[in-house]
Amino acid sequence: MAVTINKVSSDTELREISELADTVWHECFTDIISLGQIDYMVEKFQSYKAMTSQIAEQDYSYYAVRENAELCGYIGVKPERDNRFFLSKLYLRSDKRGRGIASLMLKKIFEEAENCGKEKVYLTVNKHNERAIAVYLRTGFVIADKAVTDIGNGYVMDDYIMEYTL
Ligand SMILES: CC(C)(COP(=O)(O)OP(=O)(O)OC[C@H]1O[C@@H](n2cnc3c(N)ncnc32)[C@H](O)[C@@H]1OP(=O)(O)O)[C@@H](O)C(=O)NCCC(=O)NCCS
Repeated sequence: MAVTINKVSSDTELREISELADTVWHECFTDIISLGQIDYMVEKFQSYKAMTSQIAEQDYSYYAVRENAELCGYIGVKPERDNRFFLSKLYLRSDKRGRGIASLMLKKIFEEAENCGKEKVYLTVNKHNERAIAVYLRTGFVIADKAVTDIGNGYVMDDYIMEYTL
C-alpha cells in the first residue's frame, strides 16, 4: 500500500476533492441526517467555492490522501488562535476504510498540529456517527463537550466535541 498525504496546492486538486466530498458525504451520512441537510452542508462547507473561501479567509488547509496516486480521502484542518488545532474534515472513500489509512491521516494531523506549536487537537462529530467516534476514542480522543449548532435553513448539527492532547 503506497499511501501519500499531501497539502492541496492547486485548484484542480481542490475541485477533485470537492467531487469526492460530494460522493462520500452522500454515502456516509444517509442514515444520520436528511438528504436535504446533506445537500445543504456539502454546498455550504465542501463545495469548491466554500473550500476556496475557507483557505483564503479562514486559514484552512486541505490534504489529499492518495493510494497508488488515486485520490481516496481528504483532511481539512485549521490552527486556532489559542493552543488548539481544529480537525475539521477526515474523510475516506468507503472501499478504503478499515485498513488503517485513517490512523496514517491522524498521525499526519498530529504532526502538523505539533509543527504549529499546538497542544490539543479538537473536532466535532455527529453524535450518531458511531464508527468515527469509535476510531477517535481508539486513537486517544476524549469526549470533552457537546454542541447543537444552528447552520441555517432550519438545520442543526448535533455533535460531540472531542479532543486529543498532544
Ligand atoms: C472515520 C474514517 C476516516 C475512519 O477510517 P477507517 O478506515 O474506518 O479507520 P482505520 O481502519 O484507519 O482505523 C483507525 C483506528 O481505529 C480503530 N477502529 C476502527 N474501527 C473501530 C471500531 N469500530 N471500534 C474500535 N476501534 C476501531 C482501528 O483498529 C484503528 O486503530 P489501529 O491503527 O490502532 O489499529 C472513515 O470511517 C470515514 O471516512 N468515515 C466516513 C466519514 C466520517 O464519518 N468522517 C468523520 C467525520 S467527523
